[in-house]
Amino acid sequence: MKLVLLGPPGAGKGTQAKMLMEKFAIPQISTGDMLRAAVKDGTPMGRKAKEYMDAGGLVPDEVVVGIVRDRLLEADCASGFILDGFPRTVAQADALQVSFQEMGKELDRVISLEVDTDALVERLTGRRTCSECGRGYHVTFDPSLQPGTCDACGGALIQRDDDKEETIRKRLQVYTEQTAPLISYYQDADVLMKVDGMLPITQVQEKMLSLLQAS
Ligand code: AP5
Ligand code: MG
Repeated sequence: MKLVLLGPPGAGKGTQAKMLMEKFAIPQISTGDMLRAAVKDGTPMGRKAKEYMDAGGLVPDEVVVGIVRDRLLEADCASGFILDGFPRTVAQADALQVSFQEMGKELDRVISLEVDTDALVERLTGRRTCSECGRGYHVTFDPSLQPGTCDACGGALIQRDDDKEETIRKRLQVYTEQTAPLISYYQDADVLMKVDGMLPITQVQEKMLSLLQAS
């Protein structure tokens, strides 16, 4: 299965992608996670990307398109993948289409997670992420058993640098201006499915699975 998860910051793309990854045994390809790894490693690309990320803006198309194109050619993507946070502009969606043509593959589905803006801010300000294994939590909606400690690996839970309220507002504005147009882009391509992302995490997953299995 070749799937794109579309949705504003905090919609639950990462949370749902990790669950689908386990269910279907295909990799989650999160451009946000890949960029954060480059920032952590202090690579030249990571240092440049950090400026855009901290400001709540998008990293230039040519950088992310190159990262994703290389990643899709890796062996573990042969039987499918879940793209989380890519594409985010019409130019990225066009570039993805070119990559698919080069690989002789087709995009199966795009799932758009629909969530109210107020809920997004609450989700992002309360999000915590394991600094070791990357597992995500929420202080209210998905808490760890011991505050500040990852259930899976015991790592320390941290807050993302871009989860400050001011940066969150900017990211939401960028989503509306640059990413939301992809909803009609993929509607026109007849691959879009909308899912109510306001439901609890497990119910969102159930809805997704039933839609994917029915299609
Ligand atoms: P990225 O890391 O992709 O961030 P994002 O799109 O802003 O989305 P988030 O990761 O914040 O939210 P999510 O939808 O994954 O939600 P999550 O599951 O964590 O990108 C970061 C930055 O990198 C960008 O701003 C940009 O600068 C750059 N970048 C990345 N990709 C790029 C690209 N393609 N082009 C250019 N630049 C790019 O859930 C959020 C919280 O809510 C969690 O705490 C979770 O536990 C909770 N939660 C999830 N679902 C529910 C639910 N149903 N009910 C209650 N709580 C829930
Ligand atoms: Mg995410």
